[in-house]
Amino acid sequence: MRKLDKTVVLVGMMGAGKTSVGRRLASVLGMPFRDADAEIETAAGCSINEIFERYGEPAFRTGERKVIARLLTEPPHVLATGGGAFIDPETRARITENAISVWLKANVDLLLERVRRKDNRPLLRNTDSRTALMRLIGEREPVYAMADIVVESDEGPHDAVVKRIITALQNNGELSANGDS
Ligand code: S3P
Repeated sequence: MRKLDKTVVLVGMMGAGKTSVGRRLASVLGMPFRDADAEIETAAGCSINEIFERYGEPAFRTGERKVIARLLTEPPHVLATGGGAFIDPETRARITENAISVWLKANVDLLLERVRRKDNRPLLRNTDSRTALMRLIGEREPVYAMADIVVESDEGPHDAVVKRIITALQNNGELSANGDS
């Protein structure tokens, strides 16, 4: 499949499947894959949990802004972002200007089931995860809805979500129907 000339940025809540779907999407599109959270950890030399603990959320957001700004100057790739990235006005403006944004939309039950598998989300620590997720969903969904493409992320296989993204990219004229954009 011919490469897109823009980076595809996956946005949405924690647990929506951005990293897993992003990896598969990148492989189908023949593009490199980058994960913003992993890049932030590499730049900081510690985990996201440690960044929040040692320096606090504002410092994490500053690092996130810088890392995503840098990644958006790299050749086209598929970029999975952390759930708060697209909510930041500066980062959102950069993504809107330089990339195609895709919101992976998922319901709270699915998000809960997925986030329960790992203890790597500081915003859900020491709190009731459902309440915290519901609050964030309420605040963030109107912003995620500004993404260029909205795709449902459900309990089915990630490949089905990848197919939906490819179809949406085709419908948006970013890729031709036979992939020969
Ligand atoms: C966050 C989501 C996390 C990570 C950080 C903050 C958020 O990424 O960036 O814990 O604000 O929603 P995932 O969405 O990949 O879990």
